[in-house]
Amino acid sequence: MTKEDMREIIENRKFLFFGGKGGVGKTTMAATTATWLSDHGYKTLIVATDPTVSLSAIYGQEISATEVTKIGIERNLCGLNINPKKAMGVFQTRLEGMMEGFSSMFGSELLSTPCTEEIAAFDQFVSYFEDTEHDKVVFDTAPTGHTLRELSMPFDWSGYIANQIKNRREMSEVLGFVYDENMVADLETEKARYDKSVRGLSDETISAFNLVLLPEKLPIEETARAIEDLGGFGIKVKSLIINEVIPREVLQGNWFLERRRATQDKYLNEIASRFSAIPSMEVPLFDTDVYGMEMLRKVGRALYGE
Ligand SMILES: Nc1ncnc2c1ncn2[C@@H]1O[C@H](COP(=O)(O)OP(=O)(O)OP(=O)(O)O)[C@@H](O)[C@H]1O
Ligand SMILES: [Mg+2]
Repeated sequence: MTKEDMREIIENRKFLFFGGKGGVGKTTMAATTATWLSDHGYKTLIVATDPTVSLSAIYGQEISATEVTKIGIERNLCGLNINPKKAMGVFQTRLEGMMEGFSSMFGSELLSTPCTEEIAAFDQFVSYFEDTEHDKVVFDTAPTGHTLRELSMPFDWSGYIANQIKNRREMSEVLGFVYDENMVADLETEKARYDKSVRGLSDETISAFNLVLLPEKLPIEETARAIEDLGGFGIKVKSLIINEVIPREVLQGNWFLERRRATQDKYLNEIASRFSAIPSMEVPLFDTDVYGMEMLRKVGRALYGE
């Protein structure tokens, strides 16, 4: 795929996601993309749903977990670093409120599942999916099929219960809790919001899912799985960003580098044949790590051009 094709993906859609295995360069690609877009006149928000401080480190400034923070002297660039552990408080309060009437029936198990954290991050994500203030919202990390599944489950379930209650009010008497119109209405509003976001994710005219990987065995397997998982939710992966490809011009007869590059070539071929339906773009391994505006712009030129 050419840089023009990459540009088309990000310029024509509002919500841009960068998923992939740990450490492959998701934050790097998200920050690169956000920086490129803001440099090209788009009012851009970058959102990380990661408890680490990667985003703050990459931009060399504190990025808040609660308020949209202006980044540097850039006119068009803002960031937010949602902390799913903190966000959980908000989510639990809301869910507890909604589930109040059901709690006698089901206890609070739902609220203590290990996935609550993921759901809480998604809950925050949903609120940014409703954003009208920015031209572009770039997400460092994408919801996985696993998150989406967990998400659709408790809400379908509660929706089902809500319908049951609506249809058979007498059931509430039998089970001994007060039927509350408002509670069911809240539940339905919330479900509608989530459903709309999940639909938005699979709408190719507004969202683009990009998967970052390295030309190595483990990231390839993870990518295959993510493609399949997301496909189950009607989400098509827009691009594969193959990161840290060793440039040929640095080899210069060095046996170690040549061997590494030969290994990468093997996996580049595998990527091309296994994921032939998805356009891919290579990003070179740079001679330093990536942080700060200057370096982000350099990566931006490699990915999107001038
Ligand atoms: N093309 C590249 N050349 C050189 N260094 C790179 C390149 N891409 C990423 N890096 C470096 O690799 C490290 C990991 O990248 P990054 O933090 O973006 O990965 P991540 O997928 O977000 O990780 P995590 O899963 O932990 O969130 C960083 O130190 C980054 O600077
Ligand atoms: Mg990261």
